[in-house]
Amino acid sequence: MPAILNVEDARRLARRRLPRGLFEYLDRGTENEVSLAANRAGLDAIHLAPFSLVDVSQRRQDTTLFGTAQPCPLVIAPTAVAGLMGYDGEVEMARAAKAHGIPFCVSTQSMTAIERIAEGSGARLWFQLYVWKNRARTFALLDRAMGAGAETLVLTVDTAVSPKREYNQRNRFGIPLKPSVRAGIDVLAHPRWFMGVFARSLLAGGMPTYAHYPQDFRTPLGRLAVGEEVSLATDVSWHDVEALRRHWRGRLILKGILRASDAVKAIEHGVDGIVVSNHGARNLDCAPHPAHVLPGIVAAAGRRLTILADSGVRRGSDVAKYLALGADGVLVGRAPLYGLAAGGQAGAVRMLEILRAELDTTMALLGLTRIDQLPETLEPAARM
Ligand SMILES: Cc1cc2nc3c(=O)[nH]c(=O)nc-3n(C[C@H](O)[C@H](O)[C@H](O)COP(=O)(O)O)c2cc1C
Repeated sequence: MPAILNVEDARRLARRRLPRGLFEYLDRGTENEVSLAANRAGLDAIHLAPFSLVDVSQRRQDTTLFGTAQPCPLVIAPTAVAGLMGYDGEVEMARAAKAHGIPFCVSTQSMTAIERIAEGSGARLWFQLYVWKNRARTFALLDRAMGAGAETLVLTVDTAVSPKREYNQRNRFGIPLKPSVRAGIDVLAHPRWFMGVFARSLLAGGMPTYAHYPQDFRTPLGRLAVGEEVSLATDVSWHDVEALRRHWRGRLILKGILRASDAVKAIEHGVDGIVVSNHGARNLDCAPHPAHVLPGIVAAAGRRLTILADSGVRRGSDVAKYLALGADGVLVGRAPLYGLAAGGQAGAVRMLEILRAELDTTMALLGLTRIDQLPETLEPAARM
């Protein structure tokens, strides 16, 4: 993929390849998309000051997250519907993660079941949970994830209700996929995706839909009738965290924390890690940018739990910035998805390669040889 030199190149290619409804679902934010712009502006406003005259001929970006060594500080974030961005998209993404020795986080709303992702990739898997109204069914799903070898449970805490994304309504985009004239024209205008992803998926496994939803919610056509029991619970509270902590034997992470007080509560509830995240600016349009609140959260939580961050990473220097602000690791959502849409597994692998190479260049130019030195480069004005 010689034409793809950065994440934005892959984004442009993804825009051409995917039907508009799918691309906008991948790419856009919510409501007025204020937080989408703020995420970019927030990261751009951070400056890192280099150390001069340092021998940087030996540089490393390996780290240890939750007791496991990995070659770089990245994790592939959970993304619903990744399986439609490329053929067998979730397996391909997991393989890309495996190729880079990093974990892949499977979404509750994945189009591929975790068992098949595990079998098809051999990757280290985390499992992201949206709590369903029926808690017994939710726990049954967790048992499946555990059985498939998921080592870490990621409870998403920033999605109490569905956000207001008007473009999805206008594009008639949603799962289960519903036929409409507009969606039909959109799909036919992208024959490569239609044949290479949609028709191929249809032939291989029937109508693509959320794979983790129980069988009894499927119609004979394979369509999902998301019933009351498996719609997202709006009453998820710290009691659920307690219950999950008792039930889940592996590591437990809360994703979507934006307040120091919640990070402290997470520690009190025996949680192993948090992701400081505004969901890639897809949910609450007035949410703060993670980089803005991260230093306060790091100060309050100290080294008592692992702190990850995400939202807005498009360059290796963005990864460097989150690490400089005190994150132990960084999740990437859209970047590998753009790669997947542009070039399948190889495209996702390429995105991770590019981010790692850019992080390496950033470190060298900052006069650093290890990623744990990054906080020292934060300009004094940005330190809290
Ligand atoms: C298409 C798409 C689907 C997503 N689906 C989920 C999901 O199912 N569960 C979840 O916790 N986060 C989900 N997210 C949020 C990501 O996990 C992550 O927080 C976000 O993408 C990070 O921002 P970035 O895309 O700018 O890297 C989704 C993001 C995208 C782009």
